[in-house]
Amino acid sequence: MKNINIMWNISTICNFNCDHCSYANKITNKNFLNKNQIFKIIKKLNDAQKKIDKDIKVGLIGAEPTQLTFFKKVVKKLYYSNLKIGITSNGGKKGKIIEVLPYIDELTISLDGPTKKYHEITRPKGSFKIVSQNIKEISKKIKSMDKEILFSINCVINNKNYIVIDEMISFAKNLGVDSINLLQNIPIGNAKEKDYELEVKNHLESVKKVAQEYSKKSKSISINARFTRPLAKDYSKKVLGLDFPKHIHGCGAGSYFGLITKEGNLYPCDRFDPNVYKEKYFGEQNYSLLDKKFFEIWNMKLFHHSYTIENKKETFLNYYPCMNCKYLGIDCTPCPAQLIQENKFGHSIICEAFLEKIYEEDKYEEKHCKERRY
Ligand SMILES: C[S@@+](CC[C@H](N)C(=O)[O-])C[C@H]1O[C@@H](n2cnc3c(N)ncnc32)[C@H](O)[C@@H]1O
Ligand code: SF4
Ligand code: SF4
Repeated sequence: MKNINIMWNISTICNFNCDHCSYANKITNKNFLNKNQIFKIIKKLNDAQKKIDKDIKVGLIGAEPTQLTFFKKVVKKLYYSNLKIGITSNGGKKGKIIEVLPYIDELTISLDGPTKKYHEITRPKGSFKIVSQNIKEISKKIKSMDKEILFSINCVINNKNYIVIDEMISFAKNLGVDSINLLQNIPIGNAKEKDYELEVKNHLESVKKVAQEYSKKSKSISINARFTRPLAKDYSKKVLGLDFPKHIHGCGAGSYFGLITKEGNLYPCDRFDPNVYKEKYFGEQNYSLLDKKFFEIWNMKLFHHSYTIENKKETFLNYYPCMNCKYLGIDCTPCPAQLIQENKFGHSIICEAFLEKIYEEDKYEEKHCKERRY
């Protein structure tokens, strides 16, 4: 049975102002929940943990968790509440991270390129040197500790840095991390209406570069190519003749994933819009962990409506190209939120492009075989 993974937008403060930040419009530089409210929510999570025999992992993520003045206290409180802990940080404050290492299970630091030129397209000027050096030092520190911490780099792939995606993988390996998450740029917040979303040709090129790098370095760093879809593996094998790292796409919203918002509400995911649900399905609801117990919200109908794999299979079974795809519901559970909130599916342009290239290859093989036969 899968563990429960909770992402918590615990802070509304950030020391960076990234040009692609999906969270940008929520940064207020004054925290929304105070320490007592945060501790109250941790107590609810601890009560929930006592009721189940799987782990609840709490990932402190947005905006910049290390900017909380009582950051260490929060981490220790989570630790002594028997919760697994992950932290995602911009890596600007090394000291704040090092002092919580004894308590955490996973650490992710964002680095958007292997050089100043590429990283600082989206991240603040001067941050490359500081963050890359901090990653190196934190990695050394983790290796010297008698504790297992999964250390990863997050790199959001855009129309400019994709060109060095292969260098980025080797750079991450040399910094000493265990894995690299190559993320898809989501056009929200500061990234809205910017030219960051990968064009199809750049996406295909990125898949090729990752596959080439994977064939060299697969044993030393784990590559999670989250910017693409599982069908990339078939495209890579058939068209490029290269292996591609396996990855699982999609969310477990409501089944094993949840989000705690800056206000302390528990939602199935960060795309969830309670107003749409209110109108369409369930009326007025209270999702606040300040008022309710964890499982009172987690077991609400909305968490199981359209967010379970079965429902996603049903909906995406009617949608090309997912309808014919062997990965649907197994390695791929595409996001249903757009369907529910906007009455349309997110168009899977890249999978259509993969299939087109695969069909071209099939036709070539068919023709080639005929030519040989006659
Ligand atoms: C919102 S940040 C919060 C944590 C921390 N401040 C940081 O930058 O790592 C969490 C992750 O989301 C990524 N991110 C930010 N904006 C994004 C966007 N528009 N699309 C996809 N990922 C994004 C960041 O690069 C980071 O790895
Ligand atoms: S991506 Fe992270 S570091 Fe950058 S502005 Fe957003 S919250 Fe801050
Ligand atoms: S076709 Fe659909 S189900 Fe298959 S990999 Fe692409 S997005 Fe996922």
